[in-house]
Amino acid sequence: MTATTSAVFQRCIHPQCGTTVDLDDTTFRCPRCGGLLDVAYDWNRIRPPKSLRDFEAHWARRSDPLSFSGVWRFRELFPFAPEDRVMTIGEGQTLLQPSDFVAQYVGSKEGRVFLQYEGMNPSGSFKDNGMTAAFTHARMVGARRAACASTGNTSASLAIYCAATHLMRAIIFIGSGKISYGKLAQALEHGALTVQIAGDFDDALMRVQQVAKQLGIYLVNSINPFRLEGQKSIMYRVLEALRWEVPDWILVPGGNLGNVSSFGKAFFELLDLGLIPRVPRLAVINAAGADTFYQLYERQGVRWNGGQPDQAKINSYFTAMDSANLRADTLASAIEINRPVNLPKALRALERCGGVVREVTDQEILDAKAKVGAGGLGCEPASAASVAGLKKLRAEGIIAADERVVCVLTGHQMKDPTATVAYHGSDPKTFEEVLGKRGVRRASYANRPVQVPNDLNEIVKAIEVYA
Ligand code: F0G
Repeated sequence: MTATTSAVFQRCIHPQCGTTVDLDDTTFRCPRCGGLLDVAYDWNRIRPPKSLRDFEAHWARRSDPLSFSGVWRFRELFPFAPEDRVMTIGEGQTLLQPSDFVAQYVGSKEGRVFLQYEGMNPSGSFKDNGMTAAFTHARMVGARRAACASTGNTSASLAIYCAATHLMRAIIFIGSGKISYGKLAQALEHGALTVQIAGDFDDALMRVQQVAKQLGIYLVNSINPFRLEGQKSIMYRVLEALRWEVPDWILVPGGNLGNVSSFGKAFFELLDLGLIPRVPRLAVINAAGADTFYQLYERQGVRWNGGQPDQAKINSYFTAMDSANLRADTLASAIEINRPVNLPKALRALERCGGVVREVTDQEILDAKAKVGAGGLGCEPASAASVAGLKKLRAEGIIAADERVVCVLTGHQMKDPTATVAYHGSDPKTFEEVLGKRGVRRASYANRPVQVPNDLNEIVKAIEVYA
């Protein structure tokens, strides 16, 4: 179990424990203390890149699948896999788009706000960055079945990797009625065994861990540290697009807290390797109906504390949540999560990157989403939390108008169009059914469809009035 000789291994994140685990172990928990694991590298034995500019050599090699992949072209920064074992389907061709339109909405100066659009991935969300890495590890250890619990995007990603490679069978656990049609369609069409649990994501995640253990199935939820190694590449691509300059802030929606944990690890590894001069600050944005991280970090002051967060405080928070039978509830279904599995790693990331956490309402999320859409990028509700969070942090003055800010748009608009149509549509009944009962009162930036009779003159008249 304990690794001693390999240059790549897994290690308990708590420095007081620091237990090491072999690279091919798939339990993803520290055998001594039960803590989360990192993938760790002995950089004295593996030569790290000398400069981030070295990665530019890959741009000329687009016919090589590993150089083409927006994840694997950075593989020297997570060198856990032999090249002939890597499973890539061309993920990570994503975009950092400057958006003055969004800058104006949030009250930032021109040229200072960027949107990192991860909806361009093969399955339509950022999850593919991590899935290619976990899938590669699964292949290295000879797995035949892979499973996850999901609010929809992880499952879509797993399904697509299994379907494209036929190397493994996908088994996905979803909360009954908790997944958007776009995401469910992906799981079904790509052939995943889809298990609907009578419960929510938090229930499904607990069950999938039990089942994976009992049946020896490879687990691809973000408790899997190899997933997070792949997701580091989102930040490498941000740096690449900014000509290797470090932005001032990264804002990301928070659900299971895999992304923020991964981004933090990416940055402090780059800093430790001398590849960047400083780290950006990180802001995690919760939906108000699923705000465990906000409550613990901002309200109760829970901190990483050198690897010893106040476990009693955390436990009593969850006990109170359970006794009140409090369930996560937000229109941003992707982040409808109350028990974030990566909580300790996220605390570590915020400590090293001077982080903050905010919560935003469904109203704020949908308004921000409408602005992102009107600015030319389509994202799902959860993704727009990052922009809604930026607006809030600008209003508070925590983020200054001239700071360079990157909001991560985690998933594609077509994933979850129900709320979008209800917001822009003109049917009050649909509005009430979909949005009103979640506390959304206004569609301030709605682009309403125009009703016209089937008559040429009337149609022409309507167009002259509106456009
Ligand atoms: N945005 C989208 C679109 C997501 O699908 C998720 C998570 C998040 C943000 C939150 O990211 O968990 O790293 O904090 N979706 C998971 C899923 C839980 O099952 O697809 P996180």
